[in-house]
Amino acid sequence: MSILTEKIKAEGRVYPGNILKVDSFLNHQVDVSFMSALGREIAEKFSDVEITKVLTVETSGLVIAYPVAEALGCKMVFAKKHQTKNLAGDVYTADVASFTHGTVYEIRLAKQYLNENDKVLIVDDFLANGQAVRGLRQIIEQAGATLAGVAIAIEKGFQPGGQQLREEGIRLESMAIVDEMDGETGTIVFRAE
Ligand code: G4P
Repeated sequence: MSILTEKIKAEGRVYPGNILKVDSFLNHQVDVSFMSALGREIAEKFSDVEITKVLTVETSGLVIAYPVAEALGCKMVFAKKHQTKNLAGDVYTADVASFTHGTVYEIRLAKQYLNENDKVLIVDDFLANGQAVRGLRQIIEQAGATLAGVAIAIEKGFQPGGQQLREEGIRLESMAIVDEMDGETGTIVFRAE
């Protein structure tokens, strides 16, 4: 059993609407040593490919992207969701539709931090419908960079994002795949590893 599956079994909670709460170690409080270990496991899975940059989107993506980049020995860059005065001028942008929140938001990345020489690993905490990954891929395309793969902590296997990426031939590594959740009983069914 992966260290993440074990951690979710111990600390994850199922909320109405098929939401898995992992606030105790990832989405609110951060179990730093655990996330570092998970980052090393992800980096190990991609040890056969060249990666020059890890790309994520704020906020929770940072919690996993940071230790992955540290283990790979490369820089990490994150797309911003909020317009800030400090991020003016030359930016890549993409729209992301959030299924969970029912909103559309724009993500931005300063052009100076991604270019055509980069080989990029997208990293995120959750993969559900895959909209965040889609937006990040648009940014990689705008930069003329190469997508090396996608690494996810928790994939919700009952939503289509993961399957779509695999069908497109994208290298996707999810450290835990949840195929079913039951809010009444608290049961979480994981895909066999
Ligand atoms: P998608 O990108 O795969 O299409 O996912 P979706 O729109 O459904 O997810 C929107 C937000 O909700 C994302 O965070 C995602 O990480 C989070 N999310 C989706 N399903 C779950 C779940 O079961 N449990 C938890 N804890 N989060 C979930 P976000 O809005 O970008 O939040 P943040 O990173 O700014 O904190």
